[in-house]
Amino acid sequence: MKKIALVTGGAGFIGSHLVDLLLKKKYTVRVIDNFSGGHKKNLFHQKKNKKLIIKKIDINNLKKNNYFFKNVSYVFHLAGIGDIVPSIENPQKYMNTNIQGTINVLEASRFSGVKRFIYAASSSCYGITDPNIPSSENSKIDPQYPYAFSKYIGELTVLHWSKVYKIDVNIMRIFNAYGPRVRTTGAYGAVFGVFFKQKLLKLPLTVVGDGNQKRDFVYVSDVAKAFYLAAKSGYKNRIYNIGTGKPKKINFLVKLLKSKKNYIPNRPGEPRSTWANISRIKRDLKWKPTIKFNNGVKKMLLNIENWKDAPLWTPEKIKKATKLWYKYLSKSQKR
Ligand SMILES: NC(=O)c1ccc[n+]([C@@H]2O[C@H](COP(=O)([O-])OP(=O)(O)OC[C@H]3O[C@@H](n4cnc5c(N)ncnc54)[C@H](O)[C@@H]3O)[C@@H](O)[C@H]2O)c1
Repeated sequence: MKKIALVTGGAGFIGSHLVDLLLKKKYTVRVIDNFSGGHKKNLFHQKKNKKLIIKKIDINNLKKNNYFFKNVSYVFHLAGIGDIVPSIENPQKYMNTNIQGTINVLEASRFSGVKRFIYAASSSCYGITDPNIPSSENSKIDPQYPYAFSKYIGELTVLHWSKVYKIDVNIMRIFNAYGPRVRTTGAYGAVFGVFFKQKLLKLPLTVVGDGNQKRDFVYVSDVAKAFYLAAKSGYKNRIYNIGTGKPKKINFLVKLLKSKKNYIPNRPGEPRSTWANISRIKRDLKWKPTIKFNNGVKKMLLNIENWKDAPLWTPEKIKKATKLWYKYLSKSQKR
């Protein structure tokens, strides 16, 4: 079996770190990306590596006999679109890319007979969780907005292909990934994108609610390692949470960033806590997170200049950007 891996979304945040790991493990790596969210510059440091081939392909237009899949052992499917508000604004686009796009990648994988298919799923499938109980892979599924829904249907699709067409798969439910190359542009939402630009301009950080909500932040190189192990493992057709099991308060992040705070209203549709039960991945894949949150944030701060062109989110702009968030998600919570 040739050591060839294919990464969709390989020019993105997590995908580019997975590409680094696979190249380090001596794989020939083929990347498919349409550069809508990712950038070539995320892989610029590998530009002299002859084992890396990057092709601009939109997974929405991918044909099942695409030659790029030939002789590939592992397909890591990370191409997709994120963010909450744009998914409420344009649900069809999310269903097309995150579901139909996934079907297209599955079909190309089936056609070429890949050894294993690894899917980047999202912990957003758990919805509004009990803040006192970590989510296990068997917890209730309750997506709150079209992005979360599309990623979850993507999961079901991958499992269905596995059942019918006997493709070996593993599903990786990522909690809150952070680290270098995290997207600095795009819609309002992810906390690092918002805080780093504010810190760079020495402005107070816009903390949502009381700031005591917790997020299970997991460092991106640890996420990449989990994907790699899921491809190599004897365990297949399983779902794995990827988090640390030790969620951190947003106020703690603010403390690490040594900045002033500016409190803004709580957002509906979001859990008080995201918290992964990681017993299964620890047991099956012998994976555990290695980067402590303090150290991960320190590493990111070394490159805070990367945020100089990122949009600045002021309380006024946030209010405007989250109009739909309040309009639709507060209703769904009241039911
Ligand atoms: N970052 C997280 O915390 C997190 C959490 C849960 C799940 N995920 C999932 O992990 C995957 C990677 O996320 P990320 O944070 O690296 O995001 P990202 O936006 O940095 O990466 C996604 C990549 O997919 C590419 N892409 C988008 N649409 C495409 C299309 N139609 N055809 C080809 N390429 C396309 C983008 O250009 C980008 O490079 C996504 O599927 C996301 O849903 C991420």
